[in-house]
Amino acid sequence: MCGIIGIIAKDKKEALASITVQCLERLEYRGYDSVGIASIKNNQIEIRKAKGKLEEVVKKLNILSMSGDTFLGHTRWATHGEPTDYNAHPHTDCTNSIAVIHNGTIRNFNELKEELISLGHTFKSETDTEIIPHLIEEFKKRGMKNFEAFQSAVKAIQGTYAILAIIKDEENKIYFAKKDNPLVIGIADKMNFISSDIPSFLPYTNKIIILIDGDIGYITNKEVYIENFGKPVKIEDRTKIITWDASAASKEGFEHYMLKEIHESPIAVEDTISGMIAEIDKIKESVKLINSARRIIVTAAGTSYHAGLLFSILLQREGYNALPIIASEYYNLKTTEEDVILAISQSGETLDVIQAIKKFKQNGSSIISLTNIIESAIARESDVKLYTRAGPEIGVAATKTFTSQVAALMLLYNFISQKDYSYLSKIKEIIRYALNYQGEARLIGEELSTKNNAYYLGRGLSLPLAMEAALKIKEIAYLHAEAYPAGESKHGPIALVEKGFPVIFINDGELTEDLQNNVQEMKARKAITYGISVNKKLNTDKELLLTTDEKLSIFAIIPIIQLIAYYASVKRGNDPDKPRNLAKTVTVE
Ligand code: F6R
Repeated sequence: MCGIIGIIAKDKKEALASITVQCLERLEYRGYDSVGIASIKNNQIEIRKAKGKLEEVVKKLNILSMSGDTFLGHTRWATHGEPTDYNAHPHTDCTNSIAVIHNGTIRNFNELKEELISLGHTFKSETDTEIIPHLIEEFKKRGMKNFEAFQSAVKAIQGTYAILAIIKDEENKIYFAKKDNPLVIGIADKMNFISSDIPSFLPYTNKIIILIDGDIGYITNKEVYIENFGKPVKIEDRTKIITWDASAASKEGFEHYMLKEIHESPIAVEDTISGMIAEIDKIKESVKLINSARRIIVTAAGTSYHAGLLFSILLQREGYNALPIIASEYYNLKTTEEDVILAISQSGETLDVIQAIKKFKQNGSSIISLTNIIESAIARESDVKLYTRAGPEIGVAATKTFTSQVAALMLLYNFISQKDYSYLSKIKEIIRYALNYQGEARLIGEELSTKNNAYYLGRGLSLPLAMEAALKIKEIAYLHAEAYPAGESKHGPIALVEKGFPVIFINDGELTEDLQNNVQEMKARKAITYGISVNKKLNTDKELLLTTDEKLSIFAIIPIIQLIAYYASVKRGNDPDKPRNLAKTVTVE
């Protein structure tokens, strides 16, 4: 996973170095262990790159002093080769005539590297990417023109990629190729962009061209050329105007994107529900598939898996054979054409999910997807493409997109079970109400930040929420937290509990009496017990009690667990938007 950006100025007065850095700031969520920039001027390529976060590298290498009308920028999340200056992108050929940035992994790079070494090429890094400029160089040496050499290089590699390349004798051209990793073109008045995502260039344009697998071509300061598997693509057919506005890519006064995005949850949910209802035929098609299926296999990763687990519980309660499967654990699960798969993914690009659905598809199963990115890779693999409409999420930890997934799945559930769904319009107000308890959530988060371990316990629908709460506090506060079914905690986990051990109970109000027994068990071991409760008290040592519509109580809990993790993270001095070792979109196995 990495963030890549290419920019070509149409107006020569544009300060591209600074614009590239600003775009990279918005791409940093995709990787932040090293940064690199390339530019062309007077038919010479200049590269500045180093290990470290964007801000540090920009200062250290005086990136803003770079000039030229064509720029590439890369922010890396290491996959092949540790984060070092020499492994940072862009990578070049032997003569510094070609510069390449890449997001993805090349499976056959060892073979290709050996072959290239035998032909006299020398390498400076441990990355898979570096073979690309050398391949282009090699094909050019054999007499090919630039585009043909680029195409041949792309043909030679196996794996996943979004690639951008510049060649020094063509000052106003960026070559690109895409397979399995996102790439989108932005057409602005004064510049053309090509990037891993839309928000990176959103302050400049909302006119976009989403690239699909197999696309290869180039952008210049005047035109866009795309071929897909040899056939030229009509650019007008692919060009779209999107409705996201530039504020979606800035913090708007919030200290972190994560906090801003938690506060955007009400609108994200509203847009999601109205967007789904506007495409009601897709809901009906999904319901038809689900009702005629032998099994509903719900597959996803991380936070999206927790939304899927909650949905599976709802369906199981209605008598459906719903099976939640962590995407990376799909091995040897024999599905048939009688099974329907529901794949959930915020990014729509998570490789584990892509691999799982491709396998299930081969078995003849139908695929319904729920993603936040229109025409994402997962959406394109699906028979029915459902979307959350949460807008872009920059913080690495999923917040508003999770809330939107849960809302979208509740809507689908109401259609499946033929229930009135009008009450879902209240979700927005419930989240707003819960956000009034930010101060209380902060106190709990700050208290937890002083601990080393915690349990999050829940029953029924509160269990996936407890799992999500534990994941969130682990990933951004680096606090070891484990979620457990509350009733199961006495079968082992309770052995760890001693004086002062924090146990946080999540109580959506449905199974309060059962949870109360578990609270007593924990209190008897001198645990310090917390309750995030809706409508009914658990009598924990410290309890945040919210009151709301009981059918929607989970939506009061979600913002609270996210805020607790956020404040625990900030109190520990972490950057919640960029947790260590994590990236927003996980496009590796
Ligand atoms: C947690 C988080 C990750 C993602 C997971 C799946 O806050 O963001 O656990 O949920 O990597 O990502 P998507 O939903 O894009 O498939």
